[in-house]
Amino acid sequence: MPLLQVLNLSVRFGDAVAVGRISFSIAAGETLGLVGESGSGKSVTSLAIMRLLPSGAVTGGSIRFKGTELLSLPEKVMRPYRGRELAMIFQEPMTALNPVMAVGEQVAEAVRAHWPGLGRAEVRERVLAALDEVALPSAAKRYGEYPHQFSGGQRQRILIAMAVVNKPALLIADEPTTALDVTVQAQILLLLRRLREKHGLAMLFISHDLAVTAQVADRVAVMQGGCVIEENRTAELFRAPQHPYTQSLLMAVPTMRTDRTRPLATLQ
Ligand SMILES: Nc1ncnc2c1ncn2[C@@H]1O[C@H](COP(=O)(O)OP(=O)(O)O)[C@@H](O)[C@H]1O
Ligand SMILES: [Mg+2]
Repeated sequence: MPLLQVLNLSVRFGDAVAVGRISFSIAAGETLGLVGESGSGKSVTSLAIMRLLPSGAVTGGSIRFKGTELLSLPEKVMRPYRGRELAMIFQEPMTALNPVMAVGEQVAEAVRAHWPGLGRAEVRERVLAALDEVALPSAAKRYGEYPHQFSGGQRQRILIAMAVVNKPALLIADEPTTALDVTVQAQILLLLRRLREKHGLAMLFISHDLAVTAQVADRVAVMQGGCVIEENRTAELFRAPQHPYTQSLLMAVPTMRTDRTRPLATLQ
């Protein structure tokens, strides 16, 4: 049984179809990349899995996690999954963090939300272990500092710590490196790969950038206009892309053989 099985998922906002009957699955420990241009339905798909869509959204189809149908779960039963079994990190670490709360306390809140009975020392120990895991420098010393006192890359590390502190089975990363510069982006990708190897973490890695996705994903699903138009193992997708849209995405990926004197093909 796959860890996550999405079958004919559709999401509508009124008459507008944001996602139209898409299917994919993720095995335990596996990373699936979801790639597509802006507006293709990637974030809506991830929010549907987390059951965080706004109330106007109408969903259809099925999302099974460890065999449990998430779409029909009452909110009260869904809540323990969110942030515990299923965790999510977003593109913009500054808006995802609370600006007036110490970062250590924010990670601690994620722990207490699921283990309300834990003592202060035990919570702090788990927080520091998570901050250590994401290689935040001087974590114990900086526990009480605020988000603005950290760099963009460090803030993304703190968000990743918050996501993995409860040891989830599936991490959804929605454009986790898009807001970061290229060097920091490479460090965060390396961190995600390490966490995955160490904990057997499964990942849904979302990006508009196929080259970035190929660095972490075992398989890639390509979305366009709310549909998955192609899916394959990463190496196969690069070797033999079937759909013209996938081919155009690949043309935009620089390779050793790319003629850098010519302008890059654009995506849209
Ligand atoms: N809350 C919403 N209300 C109405 N339409 C929405 C809402 N959120 C997203 N959409 C629409 O759904 C489509 C997919 O959006 P999204 O999943 O955010 O794209 P992506 O993440 O691939 O850039 C877009 O057309 C977007 O305008
Ligand atoms: Mg998005």
